[in-house]
Amino acid sequence: MKFHHVFHTYSAKTPYQFEALRDVNLTLQEGTITAIVGHTGSGKSTLVQHLNALLVPTEGTLKVAGITIEAKKTPKAVKQLRQYAGLVFQFPEYQLFEETVEHDVMFGPLNFGCTKEDAKKRAHEALTRVGLDASFYARSPFELSGGERRRVAIAGILAIQPKVLVLDEPTAGLDPQGAKAMMKLFSQLHQQGMTILLVTHDMELVYEYATHVVVMKEGRVLTHVPTSTFFETPIEGYDLRLPPLVRVIQALKKKGIHVPYERVKDVTALVNYLKDIQRWPA
Ligand SMILES: Nc1ncnc2c1ncn2[C@@H]1O[C@H](COP(=O)(O)OP(=O)(O)OP(=O)(O)O)[C@@H](O)[C@H]1O
Ligand SMILES: [Mg+2]
Repeated sequence: MKFHHVFHTYSAKTPYQFEALRDVNLTLQEGTITAIVGHTGSGKSTLVQHLNALLVPTEGTLKVAGITIEAKKTPKAVKQLRQYAGLVFQFPEYQLFEETVEHDVMFGPLNFGCTKEDAKKRAHEALTRVGLDASFYARSPFELSGGERRRVAIAGILAIQPKVLVLDEPTAGLDPQGAKAMMKLFSQLHQQGMTILLVTHDMELVYEYATHVVVMKEGRVLTHVPTSTFFETPIEGYDLRLPPLVRVIQALKKKGIHVPYERVKDVTALVNYLKDIQRWPA
């Protein structure tokens, strides 16, 4: 997935004109869990909606799954793009509209030409993958909890069997436990070979789960690095609130104690690591 000098201007030539992406150059590799972070309004949702041509550049080009997306043109292979990169929106629960969970998840596969039987099979598989058992099939999406609804929406995308799963704020509004369970699910999908791209504000989840980080600011990509590089070399000007654990690790670094990011993902691991190397800060 490659962005080449991509600009996106909303409502061009009107009083509401807004340049939401400015000269974005970015290559996203398959096989990663990439987190896209940045302040509200920095262009994250706009960026990810380009991956399956929900939005097209107003300038520049994009290459996704071998298909070139040109400025201001809806690509012919739009169906292929939608199948390659499945997008789960910010607040996906508003996307649910069928009468039962099963029918909702079958919608995508049916739309992509599966038989009813095949769509049902895929729906059941996808629901199992997101941790919803057969007791959910006949229920109405509207009588589920927020977290369950979100799982249904994700299953609806998984049933299309995309190569890349794009999630816009998948943990927003969930309690810490719910958010963690959701991230564990993405981690499992990643281990099964899925590429994951997620927009998030939660730096703690980024620390724990992402392999790469993209930072956006005012429509531009400030940086795109492996997560270890991102947390080990703090760069001023990102204006991001780092998780407490990371702040402790960075303070230790200033005292000459280097804590490797890969080995220390929570407080217990940090304590054990410091015990192991028999060093406590003076
Ligand atoms: N349809 C639209 N018309 C005009 N401006 C828009 C439209 N959609 C988004 N924008 C503007 O483009 C900018 C980027 O929006 P975007 O939704 O990509 O930000 P974001 O980084 O996803 O923010 P958040 O973290 O709040 O979801 C914002 O300033 C927003 O107001
Ligand atoms: Mg957004």
